[in-house]
Amino acid sequence: LRVLSVASEAVPLVKTGGLADVVGALPAALAPHGAELTTILPGYPGVLKGLKRARTLHHWPDLLGEEARLVAGRIGGHALLVLDAAHLFQRDGALYTDAAGRDWEDNWRRFAAFGRAAADVAAGAGQGKAGAFDLIHAHDWQGGMALAYNRFAPAGPAPLPSVMTIHNMAFQGYFDARIFRSLGLPKAAWAMDGVESYGGVGFLKAGLQSADAITTVSPSYAAEIRLPEFGMGLEGLIASRGSAVSGILNGIDTAEWNPATDPHLASLCTARTLSGRKANKRALEAEFGLSRDEGPLFVVISRLTWQKGMDVLPEVIDHLVGLGGRLALLGAGDAAIEHELHSAAERHPGRIGIRIGYDEALAHRMQGGGDAILVPSRFEPCGLTQLYGLAYGCVPIVARTGGLADTVIDANVAALAKGVATGVQFVGVNYHALAEAISRTFALYADRAQWKRIQANGMAADFSWTASGKAYAALYRRLTGTKA
Ligand code: ADP
Ligand code: GLC
Repeated sequence: LRVLSVASEAVPLVKTGGLADVVGALPAALAPHGAELTTILPGYPGVLKGLKRARTLHHWPDLLGEEARLVAGRIGGHALLVLDAAHLFQRDGALYTDAAGRDWEDNWRRFAAFGRAAADVAAGAGQGKAGAFDLIHAHDWQGGMALAYNRFAPAGPAPLPSVMTIHNMAFQGYFDARIFRSLGLPKAAWAMDGVESYGGVGFLKAGLQSADAITTVSPSYAAEIRLPEFGMGLEGLIASRGSAVSGILNGIDTAEWNPATDPHLASLCTARTLSGRKANKRALEAEFGLSRDEGPLFVVISRLTWQKGMDVLPEVIDHLVGLGGRLALLGAGDAAIEHELHSAAERHPGRIGIRIGYDEALAHRMQGGGDAILVPSRFEPCGLTQLYGLAYGCVPIVARTGGLADTVIDANVAALAKGVATGVQFVGVNYHALAEAISRTFALYADRAQWKRIQANGMAADFSWTASGKAYAALYRRLTGTKA
């Protein structure tokens, strides 16, 4: 079963968030189940640089107005295809925005061209004897148009079976209606059950309407996006697709995120050797300029955005410090939030350490040395940092939403009595809920035996790709009519 996985990010080549971790991990997750995934990525500078001995497989003289070629490579030991279109993807700045943070004006053309190319490749372009793929699996709005082209203008004799995965409903790739005539789609595609969305063109919407099956990255988020609060305008579409919509929880790459082998850590540890975490905590205190003590060290590793509840975090810092806590934060995003965080750090020297930027190795060290990771998201399709926290004995303190609700067992009375708690959940992202959760965390932490039990429970939980790899494979087989 050959699957073309269409996405804009994949570790280790290009990453702005969890999407990259997941797309990068899928090929290995599916291989044991007889599905062979080939990932296709846009030719960003970082992606092209990562290619060794790039071979050209296909050439488009005119891909939505410009020349482009398909290049072959490898990613994590699996097949990779790259759309090399210099005018679209080789530029300085971020993936979706310029250096000033403004969306690239031609984002519609960049990801429409990517979608057109992916649909051509799925139908066999550049594939030689292997021919067409059996199924297309597109991720987020950047991959959505691949499914619209596959449905409305397939390069092969008929559309291929398809899956659309939503990693975040908040980003929909919505553009002015005027772009429609440049997309090269037949008129029939301009319809409510096509690419039209509230009078414009919606790339995520186009993918959702065109897909045979829709998945999102946790069962709770799959239920939530039927509601206006989480569906962000597409709740009606989601509800109308009924049982075609399902939630498959993300796994984590257990080779990359394993506290027993992690080369980034000063001291390795397992659930049985939790004392090994101490040296990591001391190292983290030193790195963030924090005072040394035995009180809980909270960490945050996050995009600094409203989604992540990072506007509320500065409000609870006085409370956290008042109880004797310390906080180390790594993140980047909203400038106003950065400013609030910096002023909190100035108010509490030695108690609050802020690192603005993106630093993968530091993220590992923080999971390895922090006592608890705060994830106060307003919505969270899955969330990965709480899963890394569970694996590392860095106890997650999470808002009860989406994948956070599905992966953390709240230390309530029943869970503590049973000895199964793995973290703390709170309801509502506001000062009171977060302050209360922090107070509860202090109480749990004060009982050392209980805290160790919570850490060990999380470390023993299985968040590998085993179960979810199987679930995707079963979906692929159902859609293609192939047997196991
Ligand atoms: P999202 O994709 O919505 O940002 P996830 O929790 O799914 O949220 O994934 C975030 C990923 O990005 C995790 O792998 C996390 O460790 C990483 N990450 C987020 N911010 C930073 C940062 N400033 N530095 C390093 N890694 C980060
Ligand atoms: C998105 C979501 C996050 C999820 C990630 C990977 O970025 O915000 O919750 O974990 O995608 O699926």
